[in-house]
Amino acid sequence: MSGDPGAHPVRPAVNDPSQPRRTAISKRAGAFDSSGIRKAFDLAARLEDPINLAIGQPDFPMPQAARTAAREAVDAGRNGYTQTQGIPELRARLEERARAETGQPGRKLCVTSGSSGALVLVLMALVDPGDEVILFEPAFVMYRPLVEFLGGRCVIVDTSPTFRIDVDAVAAAITPRTRAILLNTPSNPTGFVAPADTVRDLARLAERAGVTLVSDELYRSFCYDEPFHSPAAHSDRVVVIDGFSKSHAMTGWRVGWVHGPAEVVDACTMLQQYTFVCAPQVGQWAAIAALDAPMDVPLAECRRKRDRLMAGLAEHYRFVKPGGAFYLYPEAPGGSGRRFAEIAAEREKLIVVPGSVFGGADTHFRIAYTVTDRTLDRGIEALRRLAGAV
Ligand SMILES: Cc1ncc(COP(=O)(O)O)c(C=O)c1O
Repeated sequence: MSGDPGAHPVRPAVNDPSQPRRTAISKRAGAFDSSGIRKAFDLAARLEDPINLAIGQPDFPMPQAARTAAREAVDAGRNGYTQTQGIPELRARLEERARAETGQPGRKLCVTSGSSGALVLVLMALVDPGDEVILFEPAFVMYRPLVEFLGGRCVIVDTSPTFRIDVDAVAAAITPRTRAILLNTPSNPTGFVAPADTVRDLARLAERAGVTLVSDELYRSFCYDEPFHSPAAHSDRVVVIDGFSKSHAMTGWRVGWVHGPAEVVDACTMLQQYTFVCAPQVGQWAAIAALDAPMDVPLAECRRKRDRLMAGLAEHYRFVKPGGAFYLYPEAPGGSGRRFAEIAAEREKLIVVPGSVFGGADTHFRIAYTVTDRTLDRGIEALRRLAGAV
């Protein structure tokens, strides 16, 4: 990932007869390279019976009631556009919950096209060219490109190797150009859950500095060792992003949301009108049913798999215990996550994601453990063999 939108060398010549005909693409599109993750998925598609620990989505099924609601919505002809901000039944329930949890009756909410849609809209609403956004690395793959698509500049606060956020380092990174801090707890890719005091201190720091703290809470229901803490409980300025993709295994239905101060959510709603239009209607009806589905059993299963993986690798790899999400982020034997991922695929047909995909460091690799027990056990065996051999 080059990360510098200005780094795209020269636009291809379009009218040079000696060259194959090509359409010139924007510097924005040319500046990014998705080869890290794509390589992992291409490999998985080519290998026969791979051990695929690269896919960041739940392996439990979408709740039965939500599937039924989706079918009923289709049959009832609920297949058109919805209001920009979401169907009132869903929006009201989510908004009520957000207001109750934060104790902030003024909080507004907009249903979005996945939480990715919410991220796009929030950043569009906040970031002008030249503005700075503070990111914690390792970071979810979309953050940097989204900021840079808008002409923003990412200011990185490195959290390796403990993945703890040093709030003083964040304070030192704030400049007059800082518009937002992008927090993700529990984290993709590390599984790290920010403790209550960090979350509180970040919320207070952002409020004092007049910077918007954007809290990506997509994995909040996957907290295994202590309850989830949202910075929104400490400041009515915090903007929260969430969705049904991971919590209810609905990644393909594209339903997420953003809640926060009215001016930010109103801006997001306006921007959605001119971009995504709305979240898919059928997914929204499914989401209403999903809200009432008990998810304790699949979540307990995720915790069990985490514990099984940690126990299987504890003597062979160095890693920070992940308190949440469904990822483990060990140090790569040999020091390079990229090299390790290649060797794992060649020798063991094991697919993992190198840490270089999540930021500037290539020291780790990501394991997604939402797979069957058989795949997990095959993965553990392969990883044990690799630990001694690389
Ligand atoms: C931290 C984080 N945020 C946002 C997303 C986007 O998810 P979706 O658009 O499916 O809601 C993901 C997906 O992997 C993620 O890991």
